[in-house]
Amino acid sequence: MTLLVRNLSQIATPVGTRGVRGPAMRELRVIDRGVIVVDEGRFAFVGRESDMPRDLHIDEDVDGHGATALPGFVDSHTHIPFAGYRESEFNRRLRGETYGQIAASGGGIVSSVHATRAASEDELVANVLARAKTMRQYGTTTAEAKSGYGLNKSDELKQLRAIRGAAAESPVNLVPTCLAAHEFPPESRGSEAAREGWLSTIIGEILPDVASERLAKFCDVFIERGVFTREQGERVLRAGAALGLVPRVHADELSDTDGAALAAEFGAASADHLMYVSERGIRALAKSNTVANLLPATSFFLMSDRYAPARRLIDAGAIVALSTDCNPGTSMTESMQIAIQLATLQMKMTVEEAITAATLNGAQSLLLAHETGSIEPGKRADFILLDAPNYLHLVYHFGVNLVKTLP
Ligand code: NIG
Ligand code: FE
Repeated sequence: MTLLVRNLSQIATPVGTRGVRGPAMRELRVIDRGVIVVDEGRFAFVGRESDMPRDLHIDEDVDGHGATALPGFVDSHTHIPFAGYRESEFNRRLRGETYGQIAASGGGIVSSVHATRAASEDELVANVLARAKTMRQYGTTTAEAKSGYGLNKSDELKQLRAIRGAAAESPVNLVPTCLAAHEFPPESRGSEAAREGWLSTIIGEILPDVASERLAKFCDVFIERGVFTREQGERVLRAGAALGLVPRVHADELSDTDGAALAAEFGAASADHLMYVSERGIRALAKSNTVANLLPATSFFLMSDRYAPARRLIDAGAIVALSTDCNPGTSMTESMQIAIQLATLQMKMTVEEAITAATLNGAQSLLLAHETGSIEPGKRADFILLDAPNYLHLVYHFGVNLVKTLP
């Protein structure tokens, strides 16, 4: 089955099979009035119609109606297998309470833990699918999905099984991450011994089952003041890595805990959030292959002035990615378009950098850059069409959904 998409106003894509760092993030390949040929789900030709190989047999010819083609977005940090919402906590925040105050009063992650534990696996499958559909409508073709609202063995496994259960019907490719180390469960907070017990459960029971059932590709940990210490984070990541689970880290989100440097030392696939990353953390990431994964929708939704220092990270030479952090507490959105708009308008990334970050570099952070993240022959045909004459409209024409579905 060979598909030709013609009459495109523009094709804009980063190039390569690995993440791109520093100033090279600005280098997009831009083809005006190009065509795309897809054969058996892979790009077969990308370029001017006049350069198309003559011997191509085309089964279906699609009119792009002057759209702009981009690689599908890779949303490399989400918490979508959750149940319940936290709109009343959100409303309390609008009236002046902080995220920390709400968490301390029994809300926050714990509210989602109660709702997620109460949900059946089938309900979670339905929730993942609904969110995946919204993501696809907004241009995402690959999304990471984390557990972390079960916080006991059976409910963490239930969340990961729900991701697997959704995979066959999901319009986006789902990549699962075990984030059992998202928090200490409410029942393990009483004493140091109880906290130690939760670490032993993660290391001795949850991660081995996750690995043997192949329920996750990555192991994540939330290193934060009052949550997991650096030393505890290291123990979890080391245990995961020994079982073949690649580390990624929630790092320096609410305070500087040296999480970025730890992620780089561990060769983690990504260090995520980084609102409070130190100069030392920036230097460590710039020297490493660990992707600096930035989530500006979280700062926006927390009504914080503190955004990750995207400019300093890029200028230092880090591989920077962007994602939504879609979760019920700190970023209730599936839209990579809003993440890109905030990255440029608030973090001062260029549109070109933001596109690279939201596609190829996101793919790198999921170790999938050889498969997706750019429009190039051989790669999976993950692309989207924007109702726009060129890629600048992705930010310029903000707050609306520019993605159109193929006719
Ligand atoms: O990425 N950092 C921890 N986890 C989420 C928040 C989870 C929640 O509030 O439910 C985050 O921001
Ligand atoms: Fe997160």
